[in-house]
Amino acid sequence: MNDQTHSHAKEVQSNQEGPFKDLEKLVRKYACTPYLRPIADHTRLAFADAEQFIADFYSKGQAQSAPHPVILDSGCGTGESTFHLAQQFPDYPVIGIDKSAVRLNKANKNGDLPQPMPQNAFYVRAELIDFWRLALEKATTGQWTIPYHALYYPNPWPKQSEAGRRFHLHPIFPTLMQISQTTELRTNWEIYAQEFALAVRILQKTPVRDCFPSSRVAMTINCEAFEPEQPITAFERKYKNARQQLWRVIIHH
Ligand SMILES: C[S@@+](CC[C@H](N)C(=O)[O-])C[C@H]1O[C@@H](n2cnc3c(N)ncnc32)[C@H](O)[C@@H]1O
Repeated sequence: MNDQTHSHAKEVQSNQEGPFKDLEKLVRKYACTPYLRPIADHTRLAFADAEQFIADFYSKGQAQSAPHPVILDSGCGTGESTFHLAQQFPDYPVIGIDKSAVRLNKANKNGDLPQPMPQNAFYVRAELIDFWRLALEKATTGQWTIPYHALYYPNPWPKQSEAGRRFHLHPIFPTLMQISQTTELRTNWEIYAQEFALAVRILQKTPVRDCFPSSRVAMTINCEAFEPEQPITAFERKYKNARQQLWRVIIHH
């Protein structure tokens, strides 16, 4: 991709100067409230495709009994990070998930990527909020483990009035924090990274409704500025070319 193309990527503009004022209240509220929104049929179907891919992957390889390790790349967009994660974790299936058919279509055509997609990578079009609940069922029933969950540059929803759409201020957050052994969020908005880390710290100290396993409470949380030498997503490249500072939050359970 041409470096000039994105050299003027806009910085995130927000009417917030620090973490959202009601963050603690919202995180505590959702920790205690079951999230009951029905799961959309289209995501159930997409999830079944991912399950099949994973089952086939493990039936072809060395016999490995469950739980089967699975890597998730949530909001994979045009899929570059899925490609890189599949190379980084060649022994595990890597599932790139996005709701945008247009972006996934580029992913399936391999876009700007130099080589064919590794055999362990698979894309699904799905709603993350539903996909994560289905993934958690797999983890809690001992069928999958999720050693690494990538959450690279989700929509920041920077207006205060839209804060409730950020994943850490949404009822899905306790689910998101139970799925994987390591979660890595990347963003170009420092406040989003700070809020995410703060929300995890609050969740750590909050008795979460019955299903939050105590083993997950011992988490380490690192929130830091970082400079990717080699961008691994389209948005990462865009922000790097625009010389924007990038942030990441890494959570180990
Ligand atoms: C800013 S883009 C980043 C894409 C990619 N990770 C990258 O860095 O190039 C955010 C992506 O997350 C996807 N996304 C956001 N919320 C989602 C949701 N609730 N379910 C599925 N996909 C979602 C969008 O469709 C979009 O492709």
